[in-house]
Amino acid sequence: MPVTEAAPAKLNLALHVTGRRADGYHLLDSLVGFAGVGDVVSLDAGPLSLRIEGPFAAALSGDDNLCLRAARLAGADAAITLTKNLPVASGIGGGSADAAAVLRALARLGHPLPARAERLGADVPVCLASTPARMQGVGEILTPLPPLPAIPLVLANPGVALSTPLVFAAMDRRDNPGLPDIPRFAGPEDLVEWLAATRNDLEAPARAIAPVVGQVLESLRATGAGFARMSGSGATCFGLYDSADRARIAAAALKQHGWWAVATELAPPPPSR
Ligand code: C5P
Repeated sequence: MPVTEAAPAKLNLALHVTGRRADGYHLLDSLVGFAGVGDVVSLDAGPLSLRIEGPFAAALSGDDNLCLRAARLAGADAAITLTKNLPVASGIGGGSADAAAVLRALARLGHPLPARAERLGADVPVCLASTPARMQGVGEILTPLPPLPAIPLVLANPGVALSTPLVFAAMDRRDNPGLPDIPRFAGPEDLVEWLAATRNDLEAPARAIAPVVGQVLESLRATGAGFARMSGSGATCFGLYDSADRARIAAAALKQHGWWAVATELAPPPPSR
């Protein structure tokens, strides 16, 4: 019986870059939530192998995939199938979410989680739980948060893969203030009001490299998003809507540009089994 785990899309609802370590990695302060869409990993018995299927399979090569590196770090063999539903190198977890899902599946099969999973990718620790958290340090300092309000949202990506190191390198300032205190959000309005006082410090450098990111944000707002922002180092952006219907209509309109777009919600990850 294969063991299946969902790898939900990670959203940096807010992301402040607060400094830089001596090794060049950036210090972050981020409110992270998860969407109701994602990749899926499935593990079966057998020697270590990886098969990639799904709409974005062609964008990935199997050799050095993070799923394989995760299994090696855990010292485990498995025949892994990755269903790649999300665009790659797009600021919504991707490889880190997949690697975390492999580690969760291996844990269910009796392999303990390896120490320092962040060596696989900065977003692996937060993706291991896949529940809302404040993420600090370079991604390894996590403060779990209560559930976020379930808000209809659209994820949209213009098909430009942005290199995370290049986006970080294009930043003007690396010593921004951290996030304001994160309260328990009573509802969508509360969260949007809090978000309005925060930023994604990687949005401006990403827009400088790929101006189409600005067009995606404008389209999200033009289709009724009460709030829109880029996630991570881009180029995926999210828009928050006041109804699931509006989000669905907006996603259809964004697809007219030839962009990838999906209507989902800010919510706990779907049950994986
Ligand atoms: O760890 P991950 O593979 O996600 O990071 C990709 C690259 O992004 C790193 O090699 C580094 O150049 C940059 N990065 C950074 N500071 C972070 C996370 C990533 O500078 N906190």
